[in-house]
Amino acid sequence: MNFEMERKEKAEKIEAVIAEYLPREEGYQKRVEEAMNYSILAGGKRLRPMLLKETFDMFGGEGRVAEPFMAAIEMIHTYSLVHDDLPCMDNDEYRRGRKTTHAVYGEGMAVLAGDGLLNFAFETGIKAFFLARGEREREKVAQALRIFAGKSGIYGMIGGQTADIEAENAQDEATEEQLLFIHEHKTAALIQSAMMTGAILAGASEEEVKKVEKCAYNIGIAFQIQDDILDVTGSLETLGKEAGSDEKNKKTTYVTLKGMEEAKKEVERLSEEAVAILSSFGQRNLFLEELIRRLITREK
Ligand code: IPE
Ligand code: IPE
Ligand code: MG
Ligand code: MG
Ligand code: MG
Repeated sequence: MNFEMERKEKAEKIEAVIAEYLPREEGYQKRVEEAMNYSILAGGKRLRPMLLKETFDMFGGEGRVAEPFMAAIEMIHTYSLVHDDLPCMDNDEYRRGRKTTHAVYGEGMAVLAGDGLLNFAFETGIKAFFLARGEREREKVAQALRIFAGKSGIYGMIGGQTADIEAENAQDEATEEQLLFIHEHKTAALIQSAMMTGAILAGASEEEVKKVEKCAYNIGIAFQIQDDILDVTGSLETLGKEAGSDEKNKKTTYVTLKGMEEAKKEVERLSEEAVAILSSFGQRNLFLEELIRRLITREK
């Protein structure tokens, strides 16, 4: 089977896992559940659940304990996008090839759909306790939840989004150091969350989890630099979201700071380093290594 076929097959399995954990649309709260499902079912690459599962497999994970986390990380990620697109943040009209949640359901409902996904992510992650087989695995679920919570919050994604909007409103252009803080937290943190929880649930050692954190840091920074590149070179048709959002919001990005060529080189350097870390583990996952290499030239 070639890589793209394998990726498609894996993505289909991920879709089924996510679907299993979504809320039913019923009762007086139906509208918010519809808005949650609208945003999460719009698709997207499902990169974070894929990284989670592939890391879990690499460390020999077995059983279904990773599944609630796969759905939960996509809920956190989707909520971050729903809020990121709001008029008070990046003010964008398209996401994943559709109108953004606030454009369809109104701002109030989009705020609540984001809140709903955030909370539901934890309601979902907690379900892993009931899939765990025995005390040792339940302990792993607790450890994974701690990382998952931290990387989503003020020391993770929310912290990065905070620095991102502050930099946008500042007089001076952000420095490289500030920009790395922003990228590390708004983007790399959720990728670290995915890969570290996958590793922990599979029983990886503390030292291995530390290496996974570094590897995911590289993947995350490279992923955001590539996102900034595509914001300049891409289009609504290929990206499913409008290009030019960063320029519109006067964002400092790796591209404005270092230029296009340097930015592309950095994506490649960081990604190759990530692959080198991965290939240093006793057990290899060649699909995962190839996936990371392909992110260097991704067009969406
Ligand atoms: C977009 O993430 C936000 C960033 C962190 C750059 P993705 O590019 O993974 O978005 P989807 O999930 O495929 O829509
Ligand atoms: C957002 O970065 C990262 C999040 C935590 C949502 P961007 O603002 O560049 O993401 P896009 O380009 O809107 O997907
Ligand atoms: Mg943003
Ligand atoms: Mg944005
Ligand atoms: Mg962007």
